[in-house]
Amino acid sequence: MKVGVIGGGIVGLSVAWELARRGEQVTVYDADPARGAGRVAAGMLAPTAETAFGEEALQGLMLDSMRRWPGFAAELSAATGMPLGYRTEGTLLVALTEDDLTEVRRLVDYYRRAGTPVEPLAGRALRELEPMLSPRIRGGARAAGDHQVDPRLLLAALRSQRLPIRRVQKDVHDPSSLRDDVIIVANGCGMAAVTGLPVRPVKGQLLRLRGPEPLLTHVVRGVALGRHVYLVPRADGELVVGATEEERGADTTVTAGGVLDLLRPAADLLPGVAELALAETLAGLRPGTPDNAPVIGRLEGTGGPGTVFVAGGHYRHGVLLAPVTAHAVADLVTKGSTDVDLSACGVSRFT
Ligand code: GLY
Repeated sequence: MKVGVIGGGIVGLSVAWELARRGEQVTVYDADPARGAGRVAAGMLAPTAETAFGEEALQGLMLDSMRRWPGFAAELSAATGMPLGYRTEGTLLVALTEDDLTEVRRLVDYYRRAGTPVEPLAGRALRELEPMLSPRIRGGARAAGDHQVDPRLLLAALRSQRLPIRRVQKDVHDPSSLRDDVIIVANGCGMAAVTGLPVRPVKGQLLRLRGPEPLLTHVVRGVALGRHVYLVPRADGELVVGATEEERGADTTVTAGGVLDLLRPAADLLPGVAELALAETLAGLRPGTPDNAPVIGRLEGTGGPGTVFVAGGHYRHGVLLAPVTAHAVADLVTKGSTDVDLSACGVSRFT
C-alpha cells in the first residue's frame, strides 16, 4: 500500500516510521519539516505533571503512550544509531509560597484520584534531591513516572535517512491531489486548512538557557507567586524554561512580557538561572481542538482509494502522544481497527 503523510513533524514522522516498519511504502510531504512545534517543544513526557483539571478523558491515552515510550526510544535509537536524550529522573512539582503550595496540593490530589503515583515532599526533601532549588521553597511532590526526551534529537532521528521513508519537500493542501492509497493528515495547526477540523494555534513562548553545568537533574514544574513555569535540564548544561500559553492565533512573536513571565518564576524557584546565558528565545504553536484532546481516526466522508485519516490536535502533548498515535493510526490503516482506546479522540465529535 502507498501511504502519504501530510506533515513532517514529530507526530507525522512517528506515524510514517511505524507504517514503514509494517512494510508500507510511505511518503512524507512537508515543505519545511523543521518549522513546527517540535522544534520549540521542551520534550516533557509527563502523563502526570502535564495533566490539567478537566482532561480526565485524555489521561488513559497519555499513560498508554508513556508505557510505549521506552521501547519506542530504544527501537528508534537502534534503527538510526542516534541519541534521543531520553531521561527517566521524573518531575518535581515545587511551590514557592503557602498559596502556591495549596495549588500544588490540589493538583497532587487530582493526580492521585486519576491513579497516577505522586509522592508529596517537604521543601527540605526537594532540596536534597535538587540542591540548587531556592531555600524559600515550601514544598511540593515527585512524579517519578514522568520522563523526558530532547525533541530536536528526536526530530533528527525521525528524519534520518536510515529510516525507509520517502520525503517530498512540498506542502499539500488538498489530499485528493495525491496518488497515495491512504493519506494521513498530521500537519499540526495546518490540519484546519486541509480538513476543516477545528484546530487552533495556541502560542507558547519558551527560553533556552545555557551554563557550563546542569543546575538540575529532574524536570521541575513550579508555581511561584501564582505564576507557572517548567524547567527542563539537559545533560549538556542547557535549561529549557517554558512556556506561556496564549490565545493569539498564528502569532509567533517573542515578547519582552513573555520572557519576563518565564524568567521571574524560574529565578524565584532556581536563583542560579540568573547566571545562565540566554541562548535562544522561541515561540511555537500548539495545535489545540475545542476540548484540547487530539483527533485520531478516519475523516468522515472518505473511504476506498484516497481514504483520509487524521492524527493531530495534540495540543500540549504531541511529544508524549507520538508513540500511541503512531501505533493506533498504523493499526487503523493496516487492520481497520485498533486496541488503543481512542474514545477521547473521535473525529466526528466536532461535526
Ligand atoms: N507540553 C509543554 C507545553 O506545551 O508547553
